[in-house]
Amino acid sequence: MNKMEHSIWEDYRNKKTFPSIDKDYKTDVLIIGGGIAGILCAYELKKRNIDYILVDKNYVGSGISKNTTAFISFIHDFSYYEMISKLGINKAKEYIDLCKAAMKKYEELALLYDFDYEKKDLYLYSMDEDKIINEKIALELLKVNVSYVNKLEVDDSFNKAIKIKDQAIINPLKLIDALANELNIFEHSNVSKVYDNEAICNNHIISFNHVIMASNYPLVNKKGLYFMKLRQKRSYVVAINKQINQLYINIDDDGLYYRPYKEYMIVGGNDRLTNKKCENNFYLQMKEKYKGEEIKYYWSNQDCISLDQIPYIGRFNNAHNNWYVTTGYNLYGFTFAMSSSRILADMIEGKLEENPYLLTPARSILHKKLISSLAITISNLFSLKVNRCTHMGCALKYNEIDDTFECPCHGSRYDKNGKLLNGPAQKDLEIK
Ligand code: FES
Repeated sequence: MNKMEHSIWEDYRNKKTFPSIDKDYKTDVLIIGGGIAGILCAYELKKRNIDYILVDKNYVGSGISKNTTAFISFIHDFSYYEMISKLGINKAKEYIDLCKAAMKKYEELALLYDFDYEKKDLYLYSMDEDKIINEKIALELLKVNVSYVNKLEVDDSFNKAIKIKDQAIINPLKLIDALANELNIFEHSNVSKVYDNEAICNNHIISFNHVIMASNYPLVNKKGLYFMKLRQKRSYVVAINKQINQLYINIDDDGLYYRPYKEYMIVGGNDRLTNKKCENNFYLQMKEKYKGEEIKYYWSNQDCISLDQIPYIGRFNNAHNNWYVTTGYNLYGFTFAMSSSRILADMIEGKLEENPYLLTPARSILHKKLISSLAITISNLFSLKVNRCTHMGCALKYNEIDDTFECPCHGSRYDKNGKLLNGPAQKDLEIK
């Protein structure tokens, strides 16, 4: 499926090109990664007159940000009912307040830049009435205005649905391109090694006082145990020539999500952890479901998920006071990319000694999902298959639907010729 992948956002780019690192540099803050998280961090540092440079191994907006569906919302890929049951009302309130603050920032940015920001209502629905009733109760406890509805423009197969007002949609690449214009960026600048206060980039040395790892899967991932703290999830998306007006998420297993953009209906689904076999060809499923409609774009995305489904934003690890990370967005990255720009800038300025929020990467990794991830890693490290991942050597599996080699351990992907598509691996595969 990857041969023709092309996200809708790529047709609306107005991108400037940036130079590459071709000599040694000194900077206060080095940002690694030119997706939305890196760009927003750079934008925030610039506003605060802090010296920085941002480097991207490809070009800005070339990774996960170009493949997102860019909901700006506090509704993410989990249930607030479950979050309150597991973590308590205060933590859930802290989470939703962070999201609301980030959403307000996007609204403010939309007054300055054109990135097709539009407020929309979001509808959650399910065949399981209890799920929706419980979610409504949880959201109301968090002071969100929620109402039941009995009709949806995209789907009739549901037993209960709720409406949540004032969420938003944007064009992610229009935003990245608008902000990047004013920033100090180097493209095609590959960081190969990070030391305490230096990074090697295109064989040159960048000396820094602080470094922010904003490259989705952190470039340095063995230190800080990020390869144990993160799993990856894939999702598949199409854009169909069909007008809809609002946002919809079916919260049942294998449920679809919908968002409008111009004359298109964007439909996503077939979400799966990368250690699970790809069973369905989403594109063919959508062709069947929307017979007679034109599918203009299809693409897929892959994002990091933390063990507890809450992002890691803050100090990278205890050993490096000047290293910071932002990752684990669980396919809903835009909200927390915005939060991380403020939190990390505050930490760099010394206004925030340690991230006090529930986002800190220093929180415990003792979680039942860690046990299952470790079991998968061990069994694939000792499997006898010939093609081995260039990250830590796990046996690769071939995905015949996408025509890719996939690593069940931490989610690296390679095309059929061995070219690296997704990290944490950094090197191509030599196919045997
Ligand atoms: Fe880690 Fe393959 S061994 S991604």
